[in-house]
Amino acid sequence: MTSPLISPSILSADFARLGEEVRAIDAAGADWIHVDVMDGHFVPNLTIGPGVVKALRAHTDKPFDVHLMVSPVDTWLQSFADAGADVITVHPEAGPHVHRTVQAIKALGKKAGISLNPATPAKMLDYLIDEIDLVLVMSVNPGFGGQSFIASQLRKIEAVRKMIDRAGRPVHLEVDGGVDAVTARQCVDAGADVLVAGSATFKGGPERYAANIAALKGLG
Ligand code: DX5
Ligand code: ZN
Repeated sequence: MTSPLISPSILSADFARLGEEVRAIDAAGADWIHVDVMDGHFVPNLTIGPGVVKALRAHTDKPFDVHLMVSPVDTWLQSFADAGADVITVHPEAGPHVHRTVQAIKALGKKAGISLNPATPAKMLDYLIDEIDLVLVMSVNPGFGGQSFIASQLRKIEAVRKMIDRAGRPVHLEVDGGVDAVTARQCVDAGADVLVAGSATFKGGPERYAANIAALKGLG
């Protein structure tokens, strides 16, 4: 299979040693760094703010793939852009005017992503696909790491792949939640090119990170 890009979710890292953890996954072959931002309102968990992203920026040159699970979201775009985000992904349910939110992200000079919850149809993308740089298909309900992959999302990945190919633009298709070496292959076969992995990257501690990432790429 073509090797996907791997974007380890630092939600599964040791938060007491976050800078070291980011350096370790960078050295172990991570392509992007996935940052899960949760507000305790849009999702039932509270995690990382722009200050942490800013502090981590010095620890790696890899792109920061910032997944915003916050509502309302528009007021946070500037802070995460200033903190060093490269890709900013939002959920259409997080504000009343998602098209405007996408325009705002692009006006900040960042790549814009749209994330689809498990119950959100691919059709949501009809009038956004020509504007965005990334689609993030959630294969768990957002809020926590370590959940099981929801197999019905494979059909959605296939549908989104078709939309992207039809659009004829470079749009990444990323999958997030319950991705391990087995589900990684299913996602890539369905058309994904970027995989988020929290538990599957960080399991076993730093000496396992390179092997874990290689296994996710299908090289293990
Ligand atoms: C869930 C987050 C995911 C999560 C992935 O809301 O968006 O990025 O941390 O964790 P795993 O890979 O453990 O399912
Ligand atoms: Zn995420």
